[in-house]
Amino acid sequence: MYHNNLKISEMSLTNKNVVITGGSTGIGLATAKAFINAGANVVITGRSADNLQKAASAINSPNLKTLVSDTSNLDGISVLENYVAENGKKLDVLFLNAAIATFKPIEHATEADFDAQFNTNVKGHFFTLQKLLPHLADGASVVFTSSIVATASGAGTGIYSATKGAINKIAQIAANELAERKIRVNTVSLGPIQTPGLDGVATPEAKANLAASTALQRLGTADEIANTVLFLCSDAASFISGADITVDGGALTYMMK
Ligand SMILES: NC(=O)c1ccc[n+]([C@@H]2O[C@H](COP(=O)([O-])OP(=O)(O)OC[C@H]3O[C@@H](n4cnc5c(N)ncnc54)[C@H](OP(=O)(O)O)[C@@H]3O)[C@@H](O)[C@H]2O)c1
Repeated sequence: MYHNNLKISEMSLTNKNVVITGGSTGIGLATAKAFINAGANVVITGRSADNLQKAASAINSPNLKTLVSDTSNLDGISVLENYVAENGKKLDVLFLNAAIATFKPIEHATEADFDAQFNTNVKGHFFTLQKLLPHLADGASVVFTSSIVATASGAGTGIYSATKGAINKIAQIAANELAERKIRVNTVSLGPIQTPGLDGVATPEAKANLAASTALQRLGTADEIANTVLFLCSDAASFISGADITVDGGALTYMMK
């Protein structure tokens, strides 16, 4: 029967167990809220206990748990792995979302810039997936947060763009390797989205330029990304795996105009 009074994403996410890395602000926080509203149990991670506490207050649900876990190193990832193992429940959704960005021309980028972004954005995702593999339910859904800069080539984004290109490839390989367990793996490639993370790297003028670079002539919202992630993790997306879903207000194609 078709329940047209329910959103698609709400049909299959009740009681699902969800982990979101980098869930305390921006896109991770909006996605955590959306999963909670759909009836799921959610664990969000981040480095700052203060940010996590603010997120918990904003969501205000007994179904939300928070965990300080720095995804950029294996010790931090073990904190998450141990938490999930002790909890004993298999995960239905893993949203690998934590990332940092520093924009500099190649000429000025430092080894520290390179290591920080690759450790968080690539090594973190790779080993979080590896360590949580035994805890993923068969049929689980994994989503990586990528960016259209993995495809487009904005000056000054060399290291960050390379991290996103790397996770696109890791996600494709993971989709092949995990298919035997019916685990679906996808990426969402985002255009400019209004978040604290964007505010940290773009002035108001730069944000206006980013908005003007999209066909829809605006920044996206974190809730719009959350909707896409929920769709990908729901039964409505049961035949989608190894895909890269672009959510960019038409920015990639608008660049070709
Ligand atoms: N906003 C955009 O325009 C845009 C565009 C394309 C792609 N994206 C991608 O979207 C994702 C979310 O970005 P956002 O804009 O929502 O950024 P955000 O507001 O800065 O949120 C980033 C989240 O990641 C956490 N985090 C950062 N480093 C971490 C680490 N080492 N370990 C654990 N958690 C960590 C942050 O918490 P703590 O700081 O407390 O650790 C925070 O919860 C990222 O993958 C980003 O690359 C964003």
